Amino acid sequence: MKTQVAIIGGGPAGLLLSQLLNRAGIATVVLERRSRAYVLSRIRAGVLEWGTVEMLREAGVGARMDREGLVHDGCWLSRGDAMVRVDFKEACGRQVMVYGQTEVTHDLYDAQEAIGAVVLHGVEDVALHDLTGAAYVTFTHEGQAVRLDCDYVAGCDGFHGVSRGSIPPEVRREFEKVYPFGWLGVLSETPPVDHELIYASHERGFALASMRNPMLSRYYVQVPLTDRVEDWSDAAFWAELKLRLPSAVAAQLVTGPTIEKSIAPLRSFVSEPMRWGRLFLCGDAAHIVPPTGAKGLNLAASDVHYLSEAFKRAYGKGNTGGLESYSADALARVWQAMRFSWSLTMMMHRFPEQSDYERRMQETELALLERSATARRLMAEGYTGLPF
Ligand code: APR
Ligand code: PHB
Repeated sequence: MKTQVAIIGGGPAGLLLSQLLNRAGIATVVLERRSRAYVLSRIRAGVLEWGTVEMLREAGVGARMDREGLVHDGCWLSRGDAMVRVDFKEACGRQVMVYGQTEVTHDLYDAQEAIGAVVLHGVEDVALHDLTGAAYVTFTHEGQAVRLDCDYVAGCDGFHGVSRGSIPPEVRREFEKVYPFGWLGVLSETPPVDHELIYASHERGFALASMRNPMLSRYYVQVPLTDRVEDWSDAAFWAELKLRLPSAVAAQLVTGPTIEKSIAPLRSFVSEPMRWGRLFLCGDAAHIVPPTGAKGLNLAASDVHYLSEAFKRAYGKGNTGGLESYSADALARVWQAMRFSWSLTMMMHRFPEQSDYERRMQETELALLERSATARRLMAEGYTGLPF
């Protein structure tokens, strides 16, 4: 087989890249290890920065998002019963869109099918070869060994993919912070407790009230890494959530059976560089953020923005400048989002062995948001996303 850009991984990063490149007349082949149903069963965060919203529209996949997504002007942060609202629109003139990553991926698959893009599922043993020369990819598909020759490889295969490890260890540098807790998340067919998101800090730990639509709520509570999903009955989850939300909010909470329950650890991770020869890393393959602030999908979209623009210039005008500077361009924005997610995570969670001093610092940060329009603006810019 032969193509222009071989894309490893059919998650949101790989599909969005494929979609934008195909629309620009650049040929791609997407190689995905799992089935489409499996990829669509993964539940992830649900807040899109405005830049991501505009990219999805540009890629021709914005119609359902614009119909069903919820545009939010702000969010709440609480500590015990004290609540502070950050009005994004007032603070920085921008908004966000609440629309689940599962739905984004669904729309991307439909759009890829509609334009006849090549997406191979159930692909095994993917290996990248000769990345600093005449690059090619080998894999097994339906029992057949296949060789795919290409101009470039986009590594969009997530944290556990093969692409990052194809960059020699001596040129690669990793930065990592592992947080000593996880988030237990549930999905429930109940009306959301508020029409905006509530990030709640509490002596017992962090909680988040989010949503997918007017009859589907998404809630999280911070849990120790040793907890297992089986330890948490629905009743125990709702009781804990109520304790951590401000009491006026908890009084409004509608509970019901949960339709999904899972625990995810929190981690910050960056691998540099994001380019090696003809290989370009995008999304979780290069970096992981803790879910606080919902930057994961947005960062994948931001990488895809830089990379798709660079490919368009390279193929359209013969100008490879964007490809040369891809790693530096993408990483500059990645680190800003890393800082934002880290800072919101540090401010809102209960850490084991946290001193009274550190707790006062968290309280003071929240008080600063209440007192200072400058602090709210900084938060709003980070939350709604820095410009590309
Ligand atoms: N060969 C082929 N495909 C692979 C391989 C491999 N060796 N390894 C992983 N994959 C596939 C996975 O099955 C997955 O569908 O690559 C895809 C990577 O998708 P994601 O993990 O969703 O990563 P990404 O597209 O970068 O999206 C980033 O989605 O994962 C969330 O939290 C993340 O919100 C963030 C966003
Ligand atoms: C979610 O709705 O799943 C969600 C929203 C905001 C976050 C994290 C997760 O910061």
